[in-house]
Amino acid sequence: EKGGYEHFMLKEIMEQPHSVADAMRGRVHPQEGQIRLGGLQKVLPQLVEAERIVICACGTSWHAGLAGEYLIEALARVPVEVEYASEFRYRNPVLTERDVVIVISQSGETADTLAAVRQAQGAGCLAVGLVNAVGSTIARETDAGVYLHAGPEIGVASTKAFTAQVAVLAQIALLLGAERGVLSQDEVRRHAEALAAIPAQIQTVLDGEEQIRRMARDYRYASNFLYLGRGANFPVALEGALKLKEISYIHAEGYPAAEMKHGPIALIDQFMPVVFIATRDATYEKVVSNIEEVAARGGTVIAITDEGNRDLDALAEYVVEVPKTIDALEPLLTVIPLQLLSYHIAVMRGADVDQPRNLAKSVTVE
Ligand code: M6R
Repeated sequence: EKGGYEHFMLKEIMEQPHSVADAMRGRVHPQEGQIRLGGLQKVLPQLVEAERIVICACGTSWHAGLAGEYLIEALARVPVEVEYASEFRYRNPVLTERDVVIVISQSGETADTLAAVRQAQGAGCLAVGLVNAVGSTIARETDAGVYLHAGPEIGVASTKAFTAQVAVLAQIALLLGAERGVLSQDEVRRHAEALAAIPAQIQTVLDGEEQIRRMARDYRYASNFLYLGRGANFPVALEGALKLKEISYIHAEGYPAAEMKHGPIALIDQFMPVVFIATRDATYEKVVSNIEEVAARGGTVIAITDEGNRDLDALAEYVVEVPKTIDALEPLLTVIPLQLLSYHIAVMRGADVDQPRNLAKSVTVE
């Protein structure tokens, strides 16, 4: 049942070239420059005319939501807010019928996320679900939705659900960008091609597992980690930190890289690895300055960057390369080494990877 792997988590990490392809099957049509999402067909006019999209979720699904904010604002120019479902519910949020609420949930059973659906519907909003578990409560109660088709996720640490969520959010962003006339057909085609290339690119990252294992061996005794990224990679920093916390029991924090100098920089010393997601995108130069600041203070830098970038060799102890894609799709590739890093560290520390202490796969209490 674990497909020859020692843990479900590793199986699910390794499955991602397939699960992401499944999340796009029949939906992404690069030749025609088209995205077709059957589950949204009947509500498309309402979605296209939304004045604002509010995304609600918890945990890793909330991180995917943040990546979705970046995607939808960049490609469709619709204002997006991302809320913790638990906060949304109790804050008496200001909603109008022109708002669309998108909830994201792997299990489809998370109590706070379900409450957000009911809250949204109570305010007259369209509630759209991005859910993995077929027939789950959230899938049934939302007005429309897109299944992730990632296949069952058993490991408590969410991995393949995250990449499927981001892949579906990218499709929604492209669909809205096309329908709202923000993107030309040519731009849709270019983005759809980039999306279609992702599964093979994920495989390339997975093929580099040995380097991540070496890294895990070097840093397995650290008590703290810092993860820094900007733009589309800021949610990846949060996700990398969450993965490490929940299965390795190592304290880790994710921050937008530029926030480092507003506090966390005080923590820098040789004992705390700082993982930078530093791909050559719009904010790359700024992130490099942050890397230099950490290196100058004797900090230990691990850099995730794109293929062929040698700029960081002198600054970082490890440079992990991922293939180049368009900026907004980077989380689909940059998250992979971070999933593997947390997995290997947890195994080396003897932790129960698939069943971390105190955690349940789906949180059905508030
Ligand atoms: O099933 P859901 O996507 O609604 O679950 C949300 C969170 O409970 C979940 O992502 C949790 O944070 C995971 N353990 C993260 O790995």
